[in-house]
Amino acid sequence: MQEITQYLESNRDRYLDELFEFLRIPSVSTDPDRKDDVVRAAEFVADQLRLAGIDKVEIVPTDGHPIVYGEKIQDPSKPTALVYGHYDVQPVDPIELWESGPFEPTIRDGHLYARGSADDKGQVFIHFKSAEAYHKLGKPLPVNLKYLIEGEEEIGSPHLERFIRDRQADLKADTVMISDTAMFARGVPSICCGLRGLAYFQIDVQGPSGDLHSGSFGGPVGNPAFELARILAALKDDRGRVTVPGFYDDVRELTEQEQQEFASLPFDPEEFMKETGVKALNGEQGYTPLEQFWSRPTLEVNGLLSGFTGEGAKTVLPAKAMAKVSTRLVPDQDYRKIARQVSDYARSLAPDWVDVQVSYLHGGKPWVANLDHPALKAASRAVKRGFGKRPVFQREGGTIPIVATFDELLGVPTVLMGIGLPDENAHAPNERLLLEHFYAGIQSAAYFLEEFSEA
Ligand code: BES
Ligand code: MN
Ligand code: MN
Repeated sequence: MQEITQYLESNRDRYLDELFEFLRIPSVSTDPDRKDDVVRAAEFVADQLRLAGIDKVEIVPTDGHPIVYGEKIQDPSKPTALVYGHYDVQPVDPIELWESGPFEPTIRDGHLYARGSADDKGQVFIHFKSAEAYHKLGKPLPVNLKYLIEGEEEIGSPHLERFIRDRQADLKADTVMISDTAMFARGVPSICCGLRGLAYFQIDVQGPSGDLHSGSFGGPVGNPAFELARILAALKDDRGRVTVPGFYDDVRELTEQEQQEFASLPFDPEEFMKETGVKALNGEQGYTPLEQFWSRPTLEVNGLLSGFTGEGAKTVLPAKAMAKVSTRLVPDQDYRKIARQVSDYARSLAPDWVDVQVSYLHGGKPWVANLDHPALKAASRAVKRGFGKRPVFQREGGTIPIVATFDELLGVPTVLMGIGLPDENAHAPNERLLLEHFYAGIQSAAYFLEEFSEA
């Protein structure tokens, strides 16, 4: 192992060069103009896998963006890890807030800045290098490896479930390894053992057939922006509870032990308020912030659009108003059931004179890990060796839609060994990755192969 460790250390500069190349590709999956760039990112991943000695590498086309699949069966009697990650990234707006270009990777103060540095290019990359080290040193892998790297995670993985169903036999594995989450804090490495689910909507309110002069028509003609605001306001009460009937029916309450575990983590509300720039914490009464993030469902407005939003003033009565709304879900909520409930309720709140359409865009299931699984314990030991500190167990408020599917379709438990940090601006301007974590992550990924082979 020492040879591997040393190899990983002495190749740091090359890793950084290669990651820079990956990060320069603007693989924004939601943007149709970036389709070719997304394909280029898939090709980069395939090249990385080949470089790592993975011998069956395919770029599988889908109706959307391609899936990269690879495998190296070292020894059928050894355990198999399936590495999942995504090479697509989120859009960059608001672009003017970036201190350096989102696709011009730049190092400042020990952080690597670029879109995708933390989510997920920089994280998935560590699992290319662990395998590569064995290959370059001519050592047999301690486990069998499969890779499933997709380009549509940030848009809800619309084609991945189909692929998993079609290739169920190929994907057989003993664990799914994912690095696509954040650690608890700098100096507090963690393994993530829970994710929230998601249901995402667009609400469109249509009033008059076209925009109108607000002076000539305002009054008798109502305003769709107002009606949308009323609908949105009615979706939550003043105690932070979602008002959609049935919304909480399937919510699993935390056990006392889970509550205690959450409470034992070092969360400082004052510090958190400073970090996020909010003057007070809101949310659902009766639950701590960590309980809310990790074990309570929420409903958020992600964006709003109506009428005139340019500079200066324009008197207009808008014809329509639109909101993007999402709910985060927890075990045992079902996103399809929630989608129906939200849609029915939002439409029921609308007055007769407007047309309200609620479109369900995508969803994902919530997930919690089995803490006793040997793969999770192996990852825990690997992180301890890579980061020099035993990891804590935590959950995440975010969603990786496919994780629950791995459970259901493959019956394979997932390990979330993320190396990001909560303040790394995923999905926001100035996304970054702490380089120290990147290097420790590469080491941990290599330790995992060894630990897992013995698990
Ligand atoms: N890597 C994130 C998931 C995540 C978010 C982990 C926050 C830890 C903390 C993933 O790429 C992501 O952004 N997921 C989306 C869901 C998707 C369907 C758009 C999310 O959580 O919003
Ligand atoms: Mn991600
Ligand atoms: Mn993301």
